[in-house]
Amino acid sequence: MTTAVPRVVFVAGGTSGINFAVAQHYAALGCRVAVLSRSQDKVDAAVHALADSGADAIGFAADVRDAQAVDDAFARAAQAWGPIDVLVSGAAGNFAAPASELSPRGFETVVDIDLVGTFNVMRAAWGRLSTPGAAIVNVTAAQSWLPIPGQIHVNAAKAGIDQVTRTLAVEWGPNGIRVNSVAPGPVSGTEGMRRLAPTESSVKAWTQAVPLRRFAETDDVVRAIDWLCSDAASYVTGQVLSVDGGLALGGAGAIASAITA
Ligand code: NAP
Ligand code: COA
Repeated sequence: MTTAVPRVVFVAGGTSGINFAVAQHYAALGCRVAVLSRSQDKVDAAVHALADSGADAIGFAADVRDAQAVDDAFARAAQAWGPIDVLVSGAAGNFAAPASELSPRGFETVVDIDLVGTFNVMRAAWGRLSTPGAAIVNVTAAQSWLPIPGQIHVNAAKAGIDQVTRTLAVEWGPNGIRVNSVAPGPVSGTEGMRRLAPTESSVKAWTQAVPLRRFAETDDVVRAIDWLCSDAASYVTGQVLSVDGGLALGGAGAIASAITA
């Protein structure tokens, strides 16, 4: 099957890690790519790297918690390039903290960045997306289903985003806009896992919890996002695609040895 290459791609939180790899992927396909994140330095570095690879790239320094700043960024991107074909939204914050030790502001901060930030991005994108034909992917996590300890803020925020995904799939479907989530498990070489698995023993514990017994490569996630945004998935909307080596199947993998012993 042939699939049309998107013309304009916007990646919110697209200046490092998994999301930057998404931006690089679409840049390599010849798309115009816009990225947004808080740090002007990270935005400049990402735009330069994308431009060096031959792409048309623009960047916006904005905090997804600032609805007006996000709206301004989308307005400028749409003014420069017209409607957005692919929107990937993955700005996020994470740290490990047991619920009993997490301050209300700590909980609120992650919910604000991840969940409220996603809403702000979706709200700003509305009216600036290709209709019909736009595809949106929200980057969530295995935590949206798995109640991982030390992650109550992330567990709640990512579950909320998946419900945003489903709601918008219903509300925006009639406009020909598809909305899905990708829920990665542990991805190697990322800031997220530097925070959640800082020691060799914690990397081992995470690996043991994954039925496929490895961390994802960034490309595993990029390929899933690419598929969801392609014509190959033209009838797929409102779904959460786990890219987690089976992690969200919970303790079932660990029980296997007990059953066969
Ligand atoms: P990362 O490198 O830290 O990427 C986060 C991006 O979001 C950066 O570009 C960051 O740039 C931006 N960002 C953070 N807070 C922001 C804010 N308030 N406003 C605007 N931009 C903001 O992290 P990553 O590990 O690659 O994670 C990327 C995504 O994958 C996240 O949604 C994460 O939850 C998800 N995920 C990751 C893993 C993993 O194993 N790493 C697993 C499951 C899900 P600035 O600092 O410049 O703002
Ligand atoms: N443990 C417990 N609480 C923590 C914490 C930790 N490791 N890190 C931050 N907090 C709390 C702070 O104490 C503060 O609460 P308080 O005012 O009650 O003390 C609250 O969270 C906000 O912290 P602050 O540093 O002001 O937030 P920020 O908006 O500047 O930064 C973070 C947001 C905390 C999520 C920061 O880690 C960040 O910018 N992360 C982006 C990168 C990232 O997380 N990448 C991985 C994505 S999966």
